[in-house]
Amino acid sequence: MKKIILIILLTTLAFSFLNASIYKGQRYFQKKCLSCHGKALKFVTEKSYNEWEEYLADDGDVMYEIHEDADEATDSMKYFQSSKYRRSMKHFRDFFLEYASDTGNIPACE
Ligand code: HEC
Repeated sequence: MKKIILIILLTTLAFSFLNASIYKGQRYFQKKCLSCHGKALKFVTEKSYNEWEEYLADDGDVMYEIHEDADEATDSMKYFQSSKYRRSMKHFRDFFLEYASDTGNIPACE
């Protein structure tokens, strides 16, 4: 009996950590990306899991390079060059992959 309770407790704990991370990713996205990428919902949910995996590859280098190459993204380079961006990658990853188009998940609130 004790074991079961412990397992339930640990699972709940693991879930709340993941949820907190997804939420953080969403908040960072709203702060740093929304200005150019419109509504968070659409931008995030219209890309598939595999597409997001590709954008998120190499610890954020792929996304960095996309913005480095795009003229209209110049304003975002200060952020993409910062260590903040690198530190946020984990949360972006949790957020984007949770709501990729083929997961069927929709962010509850913006
Ligand atoms: C200053 C404007 C700007 C900001 C801020 C910005 N982006 Fe972008 N982003 C762009 C532009 C411009 C492109 C290139 C579009 C193209 O070349 O097709 C792009 C492309 C992308 C792509 C490639 C896929 C696609 O739909 O074009 C991803 C993924 C992406 N951005 C994610 C992000 C994330 C995550 C953030 C926040 C950390 C962010 N962007 C912040 C301007 C911006």
